[in-house]
Amino acid sequence: MKSKVNILEMKRMKKEGKKFTMVTAYDYTTASIVDNSTVELILVGDSLGMVMLGYDSTTGVTMEEMIHHIKPVVKGAPNTFIVGDMPFGAYNVSVEKAIENANRLMKETGCDCIKLEGGAEFAHTIEAITKAGVPVMAHLGLTPQTTSQLGGFKVQGRDLETANKLINDIKAVAEAGAFSAVVECVPSQVAKLMAEAVDLPIIGIGAGPYVDAQVLVTQDMMGMFDKFTPKFVKKYATLREDMVNIYNGFNSEVKEGLFPSKEYSFDIKVDGLE
Ligand code: KIV
Repeated sequence: MKSKVNILEMKRMKKEGKKFTMVTAYDYTTASIVDNSTVELILVGDSLGMVMLGYDSTTGVTMEEMIHHIKPVVKGAPNTFIVGDMPFGAYNVSVEKAIENANRLMKETGCDCIKLEGGAEFAHTIEAITKAGVPVMAHLGLTPQTTSQLGGFKVQGRDLETANKLINDIKAVAEAGAFSAVVECVPSQVAKLMAEAVDLPIIGIGAGPYVDAQVLVTQDMMGMFDKFTPKFVKKYATLREDMVNIYNGFNSEVKEGLFPSKEYSFDIKVDGLE
């Protein structure tokens, strides 16, 4: 059985050039499957709005929905480091509100840290939450909660000005006390410079191979989510197709009278019922 990694070990892995991985989970069963694997971290991301709740974006996800989904993940994966995502609106009102909501996620769910989207402009919030005793993972590059400001789901940091901004952002969140950062949809060369600029582990998604760790959304990598597939998603399975075939098999066996057979049925223990 694996043992749960901690923040110091993640930093050490970066120093030693040892890669690690994070995947999303939003329920007990999936979390327990990840716990049986070698994957070191689970992110209960606000992506749950889209892949679990059917929303068109992550913006509408609430604190209550996050708490509802993080709790069973913590129960299901005692040997995996759990990241709880702060939803839009939970940390942009005031620093006090941000600390209050970070405390709520930690206390009510038992997760190991919180994640929030934002760079230099959120450095003071990250600093305050960290000083309050809550470990913070930052999220830079494509930040899905504010895609309308970024002009849609686009690669970030493709020109010198925006690449420089990302490097300044990663330095700002590191200085503010973030222990790690997700970097999403950024050219590999820029992500490499970001990873070299700081000693905190960079967890990439669409950020190329030169960062310290990788994260994927479970429903994407398992081939379950069919609304859209970003270029950076590798499908490791075809679970959607497999599950449709399984449901079809069940349906036709029932229609043909093959299921339930004797093997799956009960007999009474006394004679003479007829
Ligand atoms: O919410 C989420 O799942 C995320 C990942 C895309 C990194 O933030």
